[in-house]
Amino acid sequence: MIDIALIGFGYWGPNVARNIHANPNLNLHTICDIKQARLEKAKSIYIAQTCYETDYKKLFENDEIQAIAIAVETNGHYHLVKEALLAGKHVYVEKPFTSTVKEAKELETLAKELNLIIHVDHIMIFHPIIQKIKYLMDNGELGDILFIDAMRMNLGQIKKDVSAMWDLAVHDLSIIDFLMDGKEPFYINSVGEKYYNPKESLCFLTMRYEGFISHIQSSWISPLKERKLIVAGAKKMVVFDDMKISEKLMVYDKGVNVISGDNIEYADYVVKTRDGDVWMPYVPQQDALYNSINHFRECIESNKQSISNPRQAIRLLKILETADKNMNK
Ligand SMILES: NC(=O)c1ccc[n+]([C@@H]2O[C@H](COP(=O)([O-])OP(=O)(O)OC[C@H]3O[C@@H](n4cnc5c(N)ncnc54)[C@H](O)[C@@H]3O)[C@@H](O)[C@H]2O)c1
Repeated sequence: MIDIALIGFGYWGPNVARNIHANPNLNLHTICDIKQARLEKAKSIYIAQTCYETDYKKLFENDEIQAIAIAVETNGHYHLVKEALLAGKHVYVEKPFTSTVKEAKELETLAKELNLIIHVDHIMIFHPIIQKIKYLMDNGELGDILFIDAMRMNLGQIKKDVSAMWDLAVHDLSIIDFLMDGKEPFYINSVGEKYYNPKESLCFLTMRYEGFISHIQSSWISPLKERKLIVAGAKKMVVFDDMKISEKLMVYDKGVNVISGDNIEYADYVVKTRDGDVWMPYVPQQDALYNSINHFRECIESNKQSISNPRQAIRLLKILETADKNMNK
């Protein structure tokens, strides 16, 4: 049993708490929030099984606690992760990992020196549908990947410390990173607008990778909630629509065939679209956040790196920093 304390019980923290609590091999030792009202809310759920604290430093001084989960605003991640590591605790931290690549690299080095685990909650790579898409890709079902198109939009929740791209596109970037085995783009560009906010509340990110291109749309000012991903291969294409109640993952046996050969003149090659079956693969019902937290637990128990480690986070942060630099240029 691993004793774990959670810092941050705002919007997302309760989901982290619920999934720690649901794990039979984790003990939700303490919930910490600077806001007493948030702690009262936590107490009404977990009552006496868990301790409650407003001062996070008390968690770092407590030898019973082996791991810290951090679900505070992004600009609070760096100093909390650093202090937790220096206190000898393993760290689970929400996405995006840090506000800069520099901070992320420093924490990566520190965790290595102290032989501690940092697990960044890139939740989507623990989603059973993303794992299914990866399985299909690794088995050659989709063929060569042509493009990956992702869309995450809703009305709100507008955040002040990060842009919609840092808040939302980071999910899609983690998916691409996972599906394409850590491949990095050689071209990154973005356009965005700071509607109602000091940071961009609407962004379009475009990237070129060796062999494929990608477009990611992130918005807090959309009339509709959309969570959609298209992975288009030369053989088959998949669509993951997370807003659907059922039939979230569909595989389309559609594509384009180029017919050429000895008997066809160079200028007369034939391009034919191919329209085939559409099928819905079986995907087990699993909670991605539960899987993410459970993976963190397994990493602590077996002293191995998380698949969602600082190196992966740094690849994503590098894209976000470059996209910020190139924004609207
Ligand atoms: N994985 C996901 O799908 C997902 C979804 C939503 C949010 N998140 C991430 O979760 C994190 C939190 O987001 P949120 O929307 O819950 O933010 P929030 O502002 O609603 O909640 C943050 C909470 O942390 C508390 N807090 C801040 N600093 C603290 C400190 N030093 N000590 C104790 N408590 C402190 C605040 O009082 C607040 O209650 C962000 O990094 C966000 O990107 C992840």
